[in-house]
Amino acid sequence: MAEENTTNTNENTKLVGLLAQFDDPDSLVQACNQAREAGYTKMDAYSPFPVHGIDPAIGIKRTILPFIVLSVAIGAVVLGLGMQWYTNSDSGTFSPAFPGYPFKIGGKPYFSLPANIPVTFEVIVLSSAFATFFGMWILNKLPLFSNPLHRISRFKRATNDKFFLMIEAVDEKFNRSSTEDQMNQWGSVAIEECRQNLNDHALPSWLRLVVLMGALLMFLPPVIIFRSMGMVNRAPRLHFMPDMDWQEKFKTQTLGPEMVGEKPLFLDERAMRAPVNGSVSWGNLEADSEMYRGIKNGYKPAVAVTTQTGSVRTSLGASQDQASAVAEEDLNQYISEFPAGITVDAELLARGQNRFNIYCSVCHGYSGNGDGLVNQRALALAATSKATWTTAKSLHDPVVKDAAKNPVGRIFDTITNGRNTMGPYKAQIPPEDRWAIVAYVKALQETGIKPPGAASAGDKKTVDDGAKPTP
Ligand code: HEC
Repeated sequence: MAEENTTNTNENTKLVGLLAQFDDPDSLVQACNQAREAGYTKMDAYSPFPVHGIDPAIGIKRTILPFIVLSVAIGAVVLGLGMQWYTNSDSGTFSPAFPGYPFKIGGKPYFSLPANIPVTFEVIVLSSAFATFFGMWILNKLPLFSNPLHRISRFKRATNDKFFLMIEAVDEKFNRSSTEDQMNQWGSVAIEECRQNLNDHALPSWLRLVVLMGALLMFLPPVIIFRSMGMVNRAPRLHFMPDMDWQEKFKTQTLGPEMVGEKPLFLDERAMRAPVNGSVSWGNLEADSEMYRGIKNGYKPAVAVTTQTGSVRTSLGASQDQASAVAEEDLNQYISEFPAGITVDAELLARGQNRFNIYCSVCHGYSGNGDGLVNQRALALAATSKATWTTAKSLHDPVVKDAAKNPVGRIFDTITNGRNTMGPYKAQIPPEDRWAIVAYVKALQETGIKPPGAASAGDKKTVDDGAKPTP
């Protein structure tokens, strides 16, 4: 190979090879065969579509990548097994300086092949993947930022309708003039020199800038870390992803936390805003007064009530005197029939019995006599002056039973808001269940169970005290 063939007369360009154009795939394959037979080895063919027989024609051999990957994988087996053998086994005799960590676990051997397969497998997979990926790059001489072929305008048709054979100048058989002659003989319709601009091989300037910037930015974290070493900083740490690691905590209905040097959350020092007067939370309007309060819809008291109605209900433990001192109750406000949304049937009564036994029987007893276990215990304690207790009223008490004096709306109100010393069950029992309990209380009263010792001969039915009556 003569020196003048590879170095061009042009100052800054280098001859890369000769590019021969063909008009159809058959002549390309033919030319490739002839080139290979002529002894050329460093060549490549370009066509817009895959051409059958082109690979053997230009003498493309099978890639050696699989063998590279195989050898790396075998190396990985040695590495993976060896690492585990070394770290686990009693290898101190082998290398006293690095004795490993020989743990005897459950009498198992220090080294056992089955137990070490998974890690070995993972090492094989990891290193083979890297070998494949980087091996492919290296074998293809990548990355290649520019190919001198793209400077030839004719070559653009390689993706369209023309076929090309490129013989590289580095081929031992290559000779600028004789190779061109041969190409003409093989039927090439046009031959072009492929030249590389020697100033051209560098990275594009924008890419160089990006790489440079990236490299500079890489120094930033170490610089910041170095600067912060041994520095005292009172400011809180930068917390890029706070998750819920740090958040202000406020308890509802309390003053805001006293944060040193910081203002409370709201100017009035509260931790939360008081709801606007008269506001109702979404879905809680409960406009149907009969359903939710047992009080007639749109009811207006006939006489102006001077006392605050709310004070009728005292909290548990308020003295009876206080409670009875409050003005008499307006019985007209309560509904005497069940509200429109409630149908009294066996299902409702069953539900009512279930709820009554859960919530009410502890005090009022299963039969409503007022002899529930809590009541019994409280009375026993009260007898020894260890407690004060107002007997849970018998639900068969003539007044409680009287539909005129204690309409269903009022029983509902008793469950909802409590009465005198009985606490409210509004929070525990939803309104539908409260109505079910009212229905069951009425059913209990209908059965006519008497308080113990008060049974009279004229009674229709008598249920044993403490038994569970069914509606
Ligand atoms: C912790 C015990 C206790 C529980 C539980 C309890 N009550 Fe009472 N209940 C009482 C006491 C005590 C009274 C008497 C209140 C008074 O007059 O001071 C009473 C009174 C009543 C009255 C009569 C109110 C009146 O004077 O008109 C009714 C009706 C009533 N309870 C129904 C119920 C129903 C229904 C339940 C279940 C949701 C229930 N109670 C759960 C203790 C309880």
